[in-house]
Amino acid sequence: MMRLPNHPSVAIVGATGAVGREMLAILESRAFPLRSLRLFASPRSAGSTIRFRGDAVACEVLSDRAVEQVDLVLFSAGKETSKEWAPRFRDAGAIVIDNSSAFRADPACPLVVPEVNPHALDAVDQPTIIANPNCSTIIALVAVTPLHRAIGVERMIAATYQAASGAGASAMAELESQARSWTRDEPLDTRIFGRQYLFNVFSHNSAIGADGYNEEERKLLTETRRMWESNSVRVSATCVRVPTLRAHAEALHLEFARATSEHEIRAFLATAPGVRVVDDRASNKFPEPLDAAGQDDVLVGRIRMDPSVPDQRGAALFVCGDQIRKGAALNAVQLAEWFLPQPRTRTTTKSSEHQLTQ
Ligand code: A2P
Repeated sequence: MMRLPNHPSVAIVGATGAVGREMLAILESRAFPLRSLRLFASPRSAGSTIRFRGDAVACEVLSDRAVEQVDLVLFSAGKETSKEWAPRFRDAGAIVIDNSSAFRADPACPLVVPEVNPHALDAVDQPTIIANPNCSTIIALVAVTPLHRAIGVERMIAATYQAASGAGASAMAELESQARSWTRDEPLDTRIFGRQYLFNVFSHNSAIGADGYNEEERKLLTETRRMWESNSVRVSATCVRVPTLRAHAEALHLEFARATSEHEIRAFLATAPGVRVVDDRASNKFPEPLDAAGQDDVLVGRIRMDPSVPDQRGAALFVCGDQIRKGAALNAVQLAEWFLPQPRTRTTTKSSEHQLTQ
């Protein structure tokens, strides 16, 4: 497998965005060993500075020169920017981790969550674009993959409750501004979503196809199949936006290949990397977006059998995960860490016993 130098030169494209800023915070908090850092954003941010490890780093505009001498680049600047620039960084010798959907279906670009399919990185022996999966899919699969490996998930029905952050920093700002305007009885700013978001729920704002499914719903099927290397798993999803800021919630109904029990499911989840079980029936305390916000772990609760599936083969879960962190920036940094030459903990775990190290 290809390795980065001990102290790689790193670039972030989309550094001023919600995910880009989180990438910076995570590189800092995880003490990612880097030699130099370059930040890129759109021309409107050129010259503005962002603090990293005590230094003010100026944002630059992408250019032919920009792609030179970069070992690792993290992209979160939208699909079009990735399509145009990610191959140029790769061709100039960089490992590219791309948070957009531009390369997720490309067989030459591994689609990876370290807790799900890290082996997909083993074949990377040259500069490559690695695709960071869709946020709802990451959050679901961190919780469900340990069950799939042990019991075999044949079908998953997902209902998502998605936060504003998935649509970027400006969408978060719009929700916050609607809350302020509401208390002042002022007109609401609806530029991003074209509707009142506060106190509302609406179908996910991605393109909807002739079959009635939107792109977000389709990604849950296609990306799950790709990461599980299974063309047989059946997935159907309903994805909606709810007025939360940065953590997605998802109700997941699973149909297994064999009979299982609540006890068995709890046992697998209790030791799953990147998972924290929050399941207190007595005090009605289960995963909540506000508790997941700012956390690395995916919170899992409402663990129960699904009596609508025969033969004890069905179970239901409710999960919450920080869309900006594990749904995007943290997963990207974990993928980058996979390429470092020094052994280090590469997945979020709750006990050293379950840490994955090189
Ligand atoms: P800018 O802040 O200058 O617009 P978000 O997903 O939170 O909306 O963030 C999108 C990120 O992508 C921002 O950092 C944005 O920069 C950046 N971006 C948008 N267009 C480009 C572009 N053409 N080149 C580089 N970065 C871009």
